[in-house]
Amino acid sequence: MDMLIEKIKCEGIVLSPSVLKVDSFLNHQIDPQLIHEVGREFADRFSSSGITKILTIESSGIAPAVMAGLHLNVPVVFARKRKSLTLINDLITASVYSFTKEETSEISVSKKYLSEEDNLLIIDDFLANGQAALGLAEIAQKAGSAVAGIGIVIEKGFQKGGQQLRDKGFRVESLAIIDSLENGMISFEETTENMGELIR
Ligand code: G4P
Repeated sequence: MDMLIEKIKCEGIVLSPSVLKVDSFLNHQIDPQLIHEVGREFADRFSSSGITKILTIESSGIAPAVMAGLHLNVPVVFARKRKSLTLINDLITASVYSFTKEETSEISVSKKYLSEEDNLLIIDDFLANGQAALGLAEIAQKAGSAVAGIGIVIEKGFQKGGQQLRDKGFRVESLAIIDSLENGMISFEETTENMGELIR
């Protein structure tokens, strides 16, 4: 997705060989036009999959998921990471371990919004070790819902999440796949881009 790759090249900041900061358009400030196109791209890729609902996780998964939901004309459900005042009964939960943060959190979705009838598209902003996506897939499985695929805005191809999810048989569609962040350079995988770019 050219627009996304250009944005990452122009505004992405390499914080370390494993962390890319994209606060100016995805993780803090949000670029609505870009995310609208991101949603359209997910919708195009999964247009023939019979998606009934999108499942994501707060907070940065919500914007791309809502845009995909808009284009696919389906509702969007987001898993909560924190306890909610109102979301207290009939919860489906999964434990998610973050290698980045070195902590486990419990994510939850109300049983009311997922069912055996659902064919889900899981969406998230980043794919690193795949724990968030696996947690969402576990919630889907506990609800009896099918998972048609996983849509990721930025996959870090040098971390093991993508391979792990594909090995488990999930269809993973990542709009930008980063090969390496070594030496302050962002290089993209052949399928998304084949040039390295020096970052400001
Ligand atoms: P995993 O789910 O793939 O295993 O990822 P991991 O636990 O390593 O990531 C924990 C958090 O850090 C997630 O967001 C994830 O999106 C984010 N993250 C991982 N790698 C990067 C990166 O290189 N750059 C940026 N910007 N974020 C990264 P979170 O804490 O749940 O945040 P939010 O969704 O509430 O914003």
